[in-house]
Amino acid sequence: MQSKVTLTTLNRMKKKGEKIVALTAYDYPFAKMVDESGVHIILVGDSLGMVVQGESSTLPVTMDEMIYHTKIVSKATRIAMVVGDMPFMSYQAGIKDAVSNAGRFLKEAGATAVKLEGGAAVSETIKAISEAGIPVQGHIGLTPQSVHKMGGYKVQRDEDRLMADALEVESAGAFSVVLEGIPSAIAKKITDALTIPTIGIGAGPHCDGQILVLHDLLGLNEGHVAKFVKQYATLSDNARKGIKQYVNEVQTGKFPAKKHCY
Ligand code: KIV
Repeated sequence: MQSKVTLTTLNRMKKKGEKIVALTAYDYPFAKMVDESGVHIILVGDSLGMVVQGESSTLPVTMDEMIYHTKIVSKATRIAMVVGDMPFMSYQAGIKDAVSNAGRFLKEAGATAVKLEGGAAVSETIKAISEAGIPVQGHIGLTPQSVHKMGGYKVQRDEDRLMADALEVESAGAFSVVLEGIPSAIAKKITDALTIPTIGIGAGPHCDGQILVLHDLLGLNEGHVAKFVKQYATLSDNARKGIKQYVNEVQTGKFPAKKHCY
């Protein structure tokens, strides 16, 4: 049986050039499928605000909601490392709050690590959480919690700033960093410069690993699909088909049939 993914596993994979596969999950049945499919890191992303709660950004997501979903995902996960995403304003207002909120993901929700957005500006926070014994994954580039400051969900191209952020996040003690929405060539330079694994989303093929939002990958999101997304399934279409057939069969008396009756 495959053994539990740890920080050591991820470091070893970077050294050997083996790609790390990460994916989000938010509930028990999908987390179980994701875990059993060989994914190394399951991120309980605050993207759940958009793909599960129907919000137009990740900003409204609360700590209690993140703990609820992370707990469910942890319960379903045997092998992958579960990372809880720190929601907007759970770490920005002060280091003390940040450490105690990060602690909740491990203490109450069974996560192994937390992720938070930002580079140099949050390096002291990363350091404090990490010194409390909580592994931290950084997240730089297009950081959705700063959507208003960025003026929208825009690809980030300031190479010097991105490199400085990545190096600060690493020296603050992060075990890995997500690179989101940055040109491939910059992601390659950052990946080569860091000793910790980089996990890319919209950051090209040279990162040490890749992450996608589960609902994007499965075609559960209707509407706009970002350029960096590859849809591997079309679950929305299948789900609609099944639900419509149920509606039709109830209305026409085809369901329940004899075999469904006691
Ligand atoms: O919230 C999330 O799902 C994320 C990933 C897209 C990296 O932060």
